[in-house]
Amino acid sequence: MAFEYAPAPESRAVVDIAPSYGLFIDGQFSEAADGKVFKSVSPSSEEVLSEVAHAGAEDVDRAVKAARKAFEKWSALPGAERAKYLFRIARIVQERSRELAVLESLDNGKPIRETRDTDLPLVAAHFFYYAGWADKLGHAGYGADPRPLGVAGQIIPWNFPLLMLAWKIAPALAAGNTVVLKPAETTPLSALFFADICRQAGLPKGVVNIITGDGSTGAMLVEHPDINKVAFTGSTEVGKAIARSIAGTDKRMTLELGGKAANIVFDDAPVDQAVEGIVNGIFFNQGHVCCAGSRLLVQESVADEVLDALKRRMRTLRVGDPLDKNTDIGAINSAEQLARITELTAAGEAEGAERWAPDCELPAAGFWFRPTLFTNVTQAHRIAREEIFGPVLSVLTFRTPAEAVEKANNTQYGLSAGIWTEKGSRILWMANQLRAGVVWANTFNKFDPTSPFGGYKESGFGREGGRHGLEAYLDV
Ligand code: NAI
Ligand code: MG
Repeated sequence: MAFEYAPAPESRAVVDIAPSYGLFIDGQFSEAADGKVFKSVSPSSEEVLSEVAHAGAEDVDRAVKAARKAFEKWSALPGAERAKYLFRIARIVQERSRELAVLESLDNGKPIRETRDTDLPLVAAHFFYYAGWADKLGHAGYGADPRPLGVAGQIIPWNFPLLMLAWKIAPALAAGNTVVLKPAETTPLSALFFADICRQAGLPKGVVNIITGDGSTGAMLVEHPDINKVAFTGSTEVGKAIARSIAGTDKRMTLELGGKAANIVFDDAPVDQAVEGIVNGIFFNQGHVCCAGSRLLVQESVADEVLDALKRRMRTLRVGDPLDKNTDIGAINSAEQLARITELTAAGEAEGAERWAPDCELPAAGFWFRPTLFTNVTQAHRIAREEIFGPVLSVLTFRTPAEAVEKANNTQYGLSAGIWTEKGSRILWMANQLRAGVVWANTFNKFDPTSPFGGYKESGFGREGGRHGLEAYLDV
């Protein structure tokens, strides 16, 4: 007998959201010089959560100057002293993780189960991990006394707002840099909460500056003459524009861009386990994941069996209120992103692929998309080539391992891949052939601060995480 569904809502009262927020520059919140503001809404209800300052040229310049001034003392501190601040930040993140998980679910739309169990634990883990490196930089393999770069301009996207902040800020500070970070315009609130954590930790003013705004603010930060390094995560299109705009300067750069990962299921894979991995690969975080397993490559002899099991599983996915602890798939982050997903899936049908989605009721307000899969997909279809960045899976088949490799690598991207098989030798052979920065075997979307992450080809360059992630913030 199946249990009746009953909602299990997390309380939104655990977090205080101010009606308005300023820019966090030199340890203080202040309005934008021209007084400009924008609103952040909750994508699951379209309710306005708060009004946030929109940084212009004068504000960007003030933030960079504050970071430059703070750099002198921060970089001269013994590593063990910088580590104390990072450990303190990590512990405060843990202590306040319930507030942060609710805030992130409200501002981003992702389920509380994910913010609580994935985003927040990983955020704290990143600060703990890089805190541990701060006094051991001479043993990281980059020379006896590697120097920081200076001021880092960091631009992050909306899909993992606080986690991307941690990936950027933790290694930068451990290595002795100071930062100006710009969160995405649809998800600024957890970064502003983090600014308050920096104050609570007693971090010297100017070491971390958070400026909110849209792409125009991001472009001003990238182009500011006094930053030494640009770290960007976001679309390939904007990544290319950034690369063009800093060409000819001596600014360092790391880019983490899009993906179109193959999740490859062989005929000897345990079907139930593979189906869980497929679901996690594409429906985790509404599919707003650069390393999502958005192309399922399944061996022809088991395609029907795998697809039947997958559809059965997809019928059980619960779409709805991000604050309900039962929710598997939350809201699409913005009306723009929903329009992009809608457009690409319409193109899939128009090009002849077959669309399937389980019946499920969607809430009336907010931005929603059913978990969807496409069969009869060819490699030429847009839904097999372009990043959809939503809960949409394109299914292709193959007969031999060589064909699987060829199809998996037939993409402009190269961020991640998954392999499902019982054969260890095949896993190793495949991993050597796949042009992807991360290859998961019999699992998917596993993240750990000790493990480097990054892409090949148009997925970008540079690595974040692990010892490798330090290199991007050291003058080596
Ligand atoms: P986007 O690349 O425009 O936004 C990412 C960040 O870059 C935001 O903070 C934004 O304000 C900033 N930005 C925008 N234009 C800029 C510029 N000229 N200079 C400096 N910073 C700039 O991505 P968007 O429009 O939100 O999403 C579009 C598509 O990009 C998605 O559908 C998805 O396919 C892909 N994407 C990939 C991400 C990833 O994790 N690799 C994350 C977000 C989006
Ligand atoms: Mg929002």
